[in-house]
Amino acid sequence: MTQQYSIDTLLAQAGNRSDKRTGAVSTPIYLSTAYGHHGIGESTGFDYTRTKNPTRSVLEDTVAKLENGDRGFAFASGMAAIQVLMNLFKGPDEWIVSSDVYGGTYRLLDFAYKNNNSVKPVYVNTASLAEIEAAITANTKAIFIETPSNPLMEECDVAEIAKLAKKHNLLMIVDNTFLTPVLSRPLDLGADIVIHSGTKYIAGHNDSLVGLIIAKGQELCDRIAYIQNGAGAVLSPFDSWLTVRGMKTLSLRMKRHQDNAKEIAEFLREQPQIDSVLYPNKGGMLSFRLKDENWVNTFLKSIKLVTFAESLGGTESFITYPATQTHMDIPEAERVVRGITNTLLRFSVGLEDVEDIKADLLQAFAQLK
Ligand SMILES: Cc1ncc(COP(=O)(O)O)c(C=O)c1O
Repeated sequence: MTQQYSIDTLLAQAGNRSDKRTGAVSTPIYLSTAYGHHGIGESTGFDYTRTKNPTRSVLEDTVAKLENGDRGFAFASGMAAIQVLMNLFKGPDEWIVSSDVYGGTYRLLDFAYKNNNSVKPVYVNTASLAEIEAAITANTKAIFIETPSNPLMEECDVAEIAKLAKKHNLLMIVDNTFLTPVLSRPLDLGADIVIHSGTKYIAGHNDSLVGLIIAKGQELCDRIAYIQNGAGAVLSPFDSWLTVRGMKTLSLRMKRHQDNAKEIAEFLREQPQIDSVLYPNKGGMLSFRLKDENWVNTFLKSIKLVTFAESLGGTESFITYPATQTHMDIPEAERVVRGITNTLLRFSVGLEDVEDIKADLLQAFAQLK
């Protein structure tokens, strides 16, 4: 039996011992798109890079281990990964989807359902098991959850939802972008598929766009591999390498993101300009509401250290305005009903010294009158 290493060890060693020929510790970047054959039926295991690439394989094998899945698959973006999962289904199949889901996921599901007879998204507050169960119909084929949700930070009970999914013979898909396998392993809790926008914490440095799928079960993995090769939105060798390199520090980064986020959540709760703070006490993401919608632009113009930008999970602190950025494609009335109000800001707390972050926020709050 091979030794089972802890997640910290797997991360620190990502890519090491992958190149038997040279012993390169940092896994090589194989740019070759084609691989020579010795004869008919005598492939080295690598034929054409869309199907399989040695650098991408290192990343895919590593994430499969981190999430405790059977296979990992890397794509050109998180959205490309979600589209591959949609291709496993067709109308009139339905997915039950967390109502507070990333706006891009909403946009793709909505577009594909209305225009391409793709799966029908049925939005439900997936924090409530009763609401999920009530939404199951004869056509329901999967449950797709984000936990904590984006941007309202609501948590779902993955293990209980997985039990419900099994009872009704549904696939359970978890978008684990916010927690990463360092803080949560949904496959261990009974989910069938995990997806990531690896662009975020996993790659971690705001320099590569990455999608990941990790799945359990031979038949499911074979179907995903078939679509990955057939559709071809695969991750490039260079981005695969950047992701392996970035991932080596994931465990350390998540601890620091979380420590800083806990402290910033407490700090924000004490500020008179803040109406409420949404933080599940886990991970590096939080959201907060300013007391006055008219303050939002002044606040975003005033922050000097924290960057007003549309992403998360990198080393640098980012604040995002969901109403005009991540969730702008949800019609305003529906968005506000969902709780994504015009006073809501989402904060990806970075790795800086937390006192410097606080000082930046304080000087920006001082501009709000
Ligand atoms: C939770 C979540 N899932 C999926 C995505 C999509 O990933 P990508 O931007 O890598 O396509 C995002 C992007 O912000 C996200 O936040």
